[in-house]
Amino acid sequence: MALPESFLDELTARCDIYDVVSRYVQLKKKGANYFGLCPFHSEKSPSFSVSREKQIYHCFGCGAGGGVISFVMNIENMTFIEAVRHLAAMAGMEIPEDDRDAGRRSRRARLIALSTDAARHYVAQLYSPAGKAGLNYLLGRGLRPVTLKRFGLGFAPQGWDGLIKAMTAKGYTKSELLECGLAVQNKSGGLYDRFRNRAMFPIIDIKGEVIAFGGRVTDDSEPKYLNSSDTPIFNKSRNLFAMNFAKKSKRNYFILAEGYMDVIALHQAGFDCAVASLGTSLTEEQARLMASRGKGDVVVCYDSDQAGRKAAQRAIDLLKPAGLAVRVLRMSGAKDPDEFIRKNGPEAFENLINRSSTDVEYRLDEIRAGHRLEENDDRVEYLQQAAQYLATLESAVEREVFSHRLAKETGVSQQAILNEVEQALRTRRRREKASRQRQEMNPARQAQPGPRQLRYENIRSARSEEGLLALALSDRELLNQAAARVSPLEFSSPFLAKVYDMALRRSQGGGEAGLPQCLALLEPEEGQLLAQIVQRFQPPAAPQQALEDYISTIQYEHLKKANQEDDKKDTLLELAERKLQQERERGGK
Ligand code: UTP
Ligand code: MN
Repeated sequence: MALPESFLDELTARCDIYDVVSRYVQLKKKGANYFGLCPFHSEKSPSFSVSREKQIYHCFGCGAGGGVISFVMNIENMTFIEAVRHLAAMAGMEIPEDDRDAGRRSRRARLIALSTDAARHYVAQLYSPAGKAGLNYLLGRGLRPVTLKRFGLGFAPQGWDGLIKAMTAKGYTKSELLECGLAVQNKSGGLYDRFRNRAMFPIIDIKGEVIAFGGRVTDDSEPKYLNSSDTPIFNKSRNLFAMNFAKKSKRNYFILAEGYMDVIALHQAGFDCAVASLGTSLTEEQARLMASRGKGDVVVCYDSDQAGRKAAQRAIDLLKPAGLAVRVLRMSGAKDPDEFIRKNGPEAFENLINRSSTDVEYRLDEIRAGHRLEENDDRVEYLQQAAQYLATLESAVEREVFSHRLAKETGVSQQAILNEVEQALRTRRRREKASRQRQEMNPARQAQPGPRQLRYENIRSARSEEGLLALALSDRELLNQAAARVSPLEFSSPFLAKVYDMALRRSQGGGEAGLPQCLALLEPEEGQLLAQIVQRFQPPAAPQQALEDYISTIQYEHLKKANQEDDKKDTLLELAERKLQQERERGGK
């Protein structure tokens, strides 16, 4: 990134974080901070905080956080430079153009343009004589012509260079075709089309740009689907098929299906909130993408086979932590939603949605599936496994409701079941307590920040470094005092040292050296951590004294480490000398 720091300074000064966040989140003042419902995970009580004074946001629930630029990046799903552009436009500022930067932007724009032109080419082929097989295939699968148009479906005919020829004629280079994953290079360096004799499904991102493709064979050859691999404009774990449409749906939930065809069939039947992951199982990023759109619910609608059921359980485990309420839909008599709708129509599917079970019901059904309830042994085992599971539920009401259901189902008294659940709960709590105690005796583990590359080596020192930064970044006077006494080289954490060094460098250069300016220069992950450190910091009653204490601790720990290293060196030196001595003695003999 080659934007001048002075430009970022002015941008962060002009774009007040409170003003920007308020466009998306309703904020209420509480003490020194503003609070609201976190836009990055679903929640019922506000744990999302904004500090106008420090110009940061931090969610005490999900840990999201950073400065104004990172907020825009996250909420709009933008890159750094896109977010800066967006804010600059709001603040009426001109972006200084840098050659390299313009180069990168135009490279991305070129690749998007190429993907878009390729999609147009495939569409044209579909309706040409060469696409007859493709068109027949798609129509034969029950897709209506308007659906084909809406999803931009196309066809890549047989042959080795149809796309390459058409795209190079339009001025795209071979290396652009390779970069986009549309062409492949053979051993002798020649290029050929990657997608051949396949029905083509363009993958469109949330902003509506064509970024990749999936291609399906029209017979039963293998592989059934070929997907673009990741490219500079496509990251398969961050996108969901049809999200560009689903985000606009009036339905207040998403339907998560397994395949392209399922999603398209669902949209055609009026379920325009359906999305699918792209040839891989669901990722955390995709779960967050759904959670960030403000719809709290996801109906998981995977294939009805064993693999689909396993994938559904995995999806539940990813979606719930993102704050989404999950329901699972069960189909019978059809292997997937596409087939179900073809057989039974949209109303029947709407019924399935209405009857879909919550994740708890789904899990209990799964546990019951392997048991014959009329056999006593089986019934006991089922009840024990179900009780174990119910004990993992946080809500006492849920535990009560479901043990009632279990009682009715098995003819065992609810009290007996509740006893079993209580006992499992006690065992669980005892285990959790023991593990908490183990952690408390080993504070290093508990105080670690999340990302691995930011792990602290010396917790005692790092805590003081955090405190020092929290004070120095909000008060220029304290920064000056720290500058005179302690150097970043004495810090134990490379990350905290980097932030401190940045602040010192800027303040010596006469620039602003506060939190907003530093945040604009850090990676999002680093900014998130810094916002968390600062927002969780309890301001001391006597900052001056606290600063002194932090500095002493940092220097003491630094000296201790330096001494240990000296000791190590001494021992090595001694060893070497002793060896030399021995050799001399041996030589002397
Ligand atoms: P399915 O095999 O369930 O396909 O794979 P489907 O969507 O029902 O396809 P149709 O109905 O036979 O056309 C589900 C998804 O897994 C990925 C694709 O994203 C597909 O939509 N997949 C499957 C691949 O990426 N490659 C494959 O070879 C098969
Ligand atoms: Mn299918």
